[in-house]
Amino acid sequence: MRSAISILILCVALSLQTTQLSMAQTNPATTLRQAADRRGLLIGAAVNPDLLRQPDYARTLRQHFNTVVAENAMKFESVQPREGKFDFTAADKLVAFAEKDNMKVRGHTLVWHSQVPQWVTEQRCKDAEAILRTHISAVVGHFKGKVFAWDVVNEALDDDGALRETFWLRCIGPDYIAKAFRWAHAADPKAKLFYNDYGIESPGRKAERAFELVRDLKAQGVPIDGIGLQMHLDRIPDDIFIAKYMSRFEELGLEVHMTEMDVRLPEPASTRDLLMQAEAYRMAVRRCVQAGNCTAFLTWGVTDRYSWIPDFFPGYGSALLFDKDYRPKPAFRAVLSELNN
Ligand code: G3I
Repeated sequence: MRSAISILILCVALSLQTTQLSMAQTNPATTLRQAADRRGLLIGAAVNPDLLRQPDYARTLRQHFNTVVAENAMKFESVQPREGKFDFTAADKLVAFAEKDNMKVRGHTLVWHSQVPQWVTEQRCKDAEAILRTHISAVVGHFKGKVFAWDVVNEALDDDGALRETFWLRCIGPDYIAKAFRWAHAADPKAKLFYNDYGIESPGRKAERAFELVRDLKAQGVPIDGIGLQMHLDRIPDDIFIAKYMSRFEELGLEVHMTEMDVRLPEPASTRDLLMQAEAYRMAVRRCVQAGNCTAFLTWGVTDRYSWIPDFFPGYGSALLFDKDYRPKPAFRAVLSELNN
């Protein structure tokens, strides 16, 4: 009798799974959000809250993404421009938008060497630890229960993989990283905490050092939940490397988020370049979906109209899934078909 029931349960489970798969095949999702929701994947974009009042921007965002991250609005200089004077106006606007549309919010970033106001770096070293602790406690505390994951420390390694010379390293010492995670955890024990960096999605010394850094933090009992691969690319990534790299974190019990993907192209972008870009996105998403521990895929912006790329890489642009007029690009279709697969 018991085995007959087990067989019945198995049959029902199998037929449910088959129905879901065939639904994706016969009734493919038409938005990224729908396709990602079916897979239980977070798909997100970096947002400038001031742009949310533009109908095309807001519509594209809520239609295609289930997760948002503040491109700049949660950084140190934005939330604490003057000592002790916190300003969450822009970031709160983003959180309210997300709540209304049932989206998750990823926090970026608590500790970084860039976009730190001058009042901080002008301080005496002996005050650095108290400043950072106060900042982290206040910011994570403010968003407690609203931000599901934080980039606690961002880009602590230089391009060779050594600890980057920053105000925080010089004044607090290498322990500033572990301390930051502990302070963030104390302020919101339920938030997932990430180390986030660029250039670690390709083989090299920096990727190794990032792995060792995270592994050592975990071994020391530091509350860390995962690693963020930024994925600012200009070519098709070494996807076999990425798959293996992610699995090394899985063995440590850690998650991976692809946090800031874009693929910059020389302007004006040729058809050939746009197709190369589509392949780059396709491979990244495919590897994320196939990995057992990759739970979020985010692009660094919504539309080519407002991407950071042209300002930082003159002559380059067209790096995102939607063009300057919010038209979906080949990369969009590649990501959608990969999620529908
Ligand atoms: O706030 C001023 C504003 O008052 C002024 O009117 C305007 C004029 O240009 O500049 C504004 O500041 C700019 C800020 O973005 C907000 O728009 C800064 O000049 C500009 O440097 C800053 O760039 C940001 C950059 O981080 C800073 O390093 C980019 O928007 C942002 O996309 C970029 O994001 C980083 C991630 O945080 C970490 N990973 C790499 C990624 C790309 O660099």
